[in-house]
Amino acid sequence: MILVTGATGTVGSEVVAQLLAAGKPVRVLTRSPEKAAKYGSNVEIVQGDLADQATLGPAFAGVDEVFLLATGPSLATLEAHAIVVAKQAGVKHVVKLSAQGADIDPGIALGRWHRDSEKNLEESGLTWTILRPGAFSSNALNWAGTIKAQGMVFHVTGNGKTTPIDPRDIAAVAVAALTTPGHAGKIYALTGPEALTNAEMVGKISKAISKPIQCIDAPEAAARSGMLAEGMPHVVVEAVLELMGLIKNGYGAETTTVVEEVTGRKPRTFDAWLNDHVDAFR
Ligand SMILES: NC(=O)c1ccc[n+]([C@@H]2O[C@H](COP(=O)([O-])OP(=O)(O)OC[C@H]3O[C@@H](n4cnc5c(N)ncnc54)[C@H](OP(=O)(O)O)[C@@H]3O)[C@@H](O)[C@H]2O)c1
Repeated sequence: MILVTGATGTVGSEVVAQLLAAGKPVRVLTRSPEKAAKYGSNVEIVQGDLADQATLGPAFAGVDEVFLLATGPSLATLEAHAIVVAKQAGVKHVVKLSAQGADIDPGIALGRWHRDSEKNLEESGLTWTILRPGAFSSNALNWAGTIKAQGMVFHVTGNGKTTPIDPRDIAAVAVAALTTPGHAGKIYALTGPEALTNAEMVGKISKAISKPIQCIDAPEAAARSGMLAEGMPHVVVEAVLELMGLIKNGYGAETTTVVEEVTGRKPRTFDAWLNDHVDAFR
């Protein structure tokens, strides 16, 4: 039995889909079972909250493999709860979704949140694999609102580049690690196939929907107040801006070949991701 956490989110839902396609038995953990209803009777849906260790026993009982994903400033605490219960349940292997940025010391807040959890997992006595993806291609969906309303994208990374990775490729590496041998104790730095500036990605979206889109390099202060106005917690806003500053200065522009090495397939391009999601921008 393979337990997928984060199964109602971007990466976890792809992990579930690919495990099911491979004919594997899947259980998902969610705080809100109605969000996992789309899986029907194909998966076991178990309610639990990573913030409350006492709720996790039923999800981990009888599980061999775990895909572990949590978000936010307290993700190391959430994942620590899962690690304790996984050990108690006799789980054999945990595949943790981490992030690019966990590799720099002392680094940035987003990286430290993940590195704290990586260390805890590494020292847990469990067998582990760690996935450190760079920016997801699907982050572009955050631009859909202003593209549709104003024909504009506001960003703060200047000419800094990221290496957009399709969540399906992150999931493909996770599924390989969960279902085939040879991944224990590995840390995989995952990227898409090419480095792109935000302006280049916006240009591709513009072409795909045949609509001019202005890509505006906004001042950091404006981005801060925009994110706070959307209700993002202060600590998350500062962590995001810290990461954006690093990208602006050239961090995160290097591609790796790990997706192809692990899955035997080249990672999907941003164009391929866009082709499948273009309607979101119309
Ligand atoms: N976006 C990027 O460019 C990027 C790059 C590198 C790494 N990352 C990392 O990717 C992760 C986010 O992945 P994602 O985008 O797939 O997530 P997402 O779409 O935001 O979904 C979050 C998932 O986490 C689950 N979750 C949250 N709190 C939980 C709790 N207390 N108990 C149980 N489940 C909980 C949610 O499940 P329910 O609501 O159903 O309970 C949901 O399925 C983060 O760790 C982030 O640092 C992101």
